[in-house]
Amino acid sequence: MSLPPRIDQAIARLRAEQQEPLCAYLYDLEALAAHAGAMRALLPANCELFYAAKANPEAPILHTLAPLVDGFEAASGGELRWLYQHCPEQPLIFGGPGKLDSELAAAMDCGVEALHVESLNELRRLAHIAAAQGRRAPVLLRLNLKLAEAPDSRLVMGGKPTPFGFDEAALSEALALLREAPWLELKGLHFHLLSHQLDVSAHLQLIRSYMRSFRALCAAHRLSLSLLNVGGGMGIDYQDARRSFDWPLFCQGLRQLIDEEDMGAVRIRFEIGRFISAACGYYLMQVLDIKRNHGQYFAIGRGGTHHFRTPAAQGHDHPFLVVRGERPAQIVDQPVTLVGQLCTPKDVLASQQPVAELAVGDLLVFPLAGAYAWNISHRDFLMHEPPTMVFV
Ligand SMILES: Cc1ncc(COP(=O)(O)O)c(C=O)c1O
Repeated sequence: MSLPPRIDQAIARLRAEQQEPLCAYLYDLEALAAHAGAMRALLPANCELFYAAKANPEAPILHTLAPLVDGFEAASGGELRWLYQHCPEQPLIFGGPGKLDSELAAAMDCGVEALHVESLNELRRLAHIAAAQGRRAPVLLRLNLKLAEAPDSRLVMGGKPTPFGFDEAALSEALALLREAPWLELKGLHFHLLSHQLDVSAHLQLIRSYMRSFRALCAAHRLSLSLLNVGGGMGIDYQDARRSFDWPLFCQGLRQLIDEEDMGAVRIRFEIGRFISAACGYYLMQVLDIKRNHGQYFAIGRGGTHHFRTPAAQGHDHPFLVVRGERPAQIVDQPVTLVGQLCTPKDVLASQQPVAELAVGDLLVFPLAGAYAWNISHRDFLMHEPPTMVFV
């Protein structure tokens, strides 16, 4: 594993300017643009690629992606406001459980492309708000499908009891409600049953189930729907990024699936987070201290899980590189646990990992830190300084 030259150079600049031990996020915007552009280009013609901003809503990330994706997904009123402020020209869609009335009204004000409705209660409230505003609300119903075989990944959001989406048993009531609500316009259905998917054929199988359910429901309820949102969930293998979700292979299979399931006339929308932005981000900590405790080595870096919660959230040892400084190695060919500055034994980024050489002042660089990283971290705990943010 090596760092792209752009990131190497940015690190050298940080080092040249540093007053204090370093702690930073670095984002490779050029790599992000190349990746998202390539993803979009491989999709079949009737497919759209939205970015799920929850993965990383930093403004330069959004601005980089804006010309390359078909729109953005917001999962809260806060994200919606932020997206509308930074990318007012981009199509926005709004999902997530537990929406406030004020958020539903704000979504209408932003002119969202679609509201993903999660429950009967929410549908009733939206009908009321749309009627009061005298404006049409474009609706997708999120369904929690019952599948013959429940989907399997480390993060499953449906196909089993969860708080997300409509149970199929509630669908008739939802459709009756929609028929009585002239300001609600049912555009399509929405599915997002899992994240962390690494298996292309399993995912194609899941999307086949979405397509079949879509068609069966349209036939059973005499609906003429033109939009199927199939969510996101393409996974990153943090231990070996080469084994991450194979997007080109998936797009090839998808093309065939669309033909086989006769879905060419339906718009198929993806809303993907992690797989778009994970690889563009790097978290960097400078080693403050090295010690041996009860027979094991620990390297304490500036920063920790309050900046970079991904390894703790995923329960994994995050991959890393050592960028050596000038001091002679204090550790040679030893397993080391990489920790941060927090006074909790949970502040571990990688445990007992082999390290060729390490000294105080060296840099620990954690790749794959561009999604669900800084923005999911408990950044106020202990009131440490935030990391420096570098957009390359
Ligand atoms: C409804 C919905 N759509 C899209 C996503 C994005 O998922 P991922 O980042 O795994 O692509 C999520 C993630 O939680 C989600 O809940």
